[in-house]
Amino acid sequence: MHPVWTKLVDAATIAERVQGAAARMRSDYGDDEVVLVGLLQGGLFFLSDLARALGGAVRLVTLTAQSYRGLESSGRVELSGLGTVNIRDRHVVVVDDIYDSGRTLYAVAEALCSLQPRSLAFACLLVKEAERVNPVEVKYGLFPVADRFVVGYGLDLDGLGRNLDSIWALEPGVSEQAAREQLLAQLLGRGK
Ligand code: IMP
Ligand code: MG
Repeated sequence: MHPVWTKLVDAATIAERVQGAAARMRSDYGDDEVVLVGLLQGGLFFLSDLARALGGAVRLVTLTAQSYRGLESSGRVELSGLGTVNIRDRHVVVVDDIYDSGRTLYAVAEALCSLQPRSLAFACLLVKEAERVNPVEVKYGLFPVADRFVVGYGLDLDGLGRNLDSIWALEPGVSEQAAREQLLAQLLGRGK
């Protein structure tokens, strides 16, 4: 049977790119303190690996952003966790799993700008080749990817697949049910 999920990026390559992005970031900010604002749940592993690779004076903040249901974006972004965020006069880098339509990052940018950071930049593990509804500038984009549904290293299908250490892409035209069944088989070690 033709595989439904194909491996796009392996764990070693992710680790290498994260180190590269962290080195670039550190050279951009020098010894200045940086606040990494990670978007949960998808940005969790990228945030954690990037924060450790970055070194120096780093603060961590997490926000929860939700827009996807199954394979499709709902078109609305729900943000929570902003209440206690203090980023005034600080360098902020928002860390997310994937830049797709741009709705999420745009909504986060609007919310964070009103808190008057010293600077604001975006880091995304994946930059999807997709139509942007709300474009933002992603200064630190690690991998360009085609417009396919992806899971792994934080990215999920209905909550599953985040704990895969590599990134997998769904073949075009596969039903949501088949995608789910094959993902589960993969997670249980029965994938092809
Ligand atoms: P945007 O708001 O359309 O840019 O989408 C960004 C959010 O949608 C990301 O933070 C992800 O959580 C989710 N997302 C977009 N594409 C995918 C995908 O291919 N797989 C899993 N989640 C995705
Ligand atoms: Mg997300």
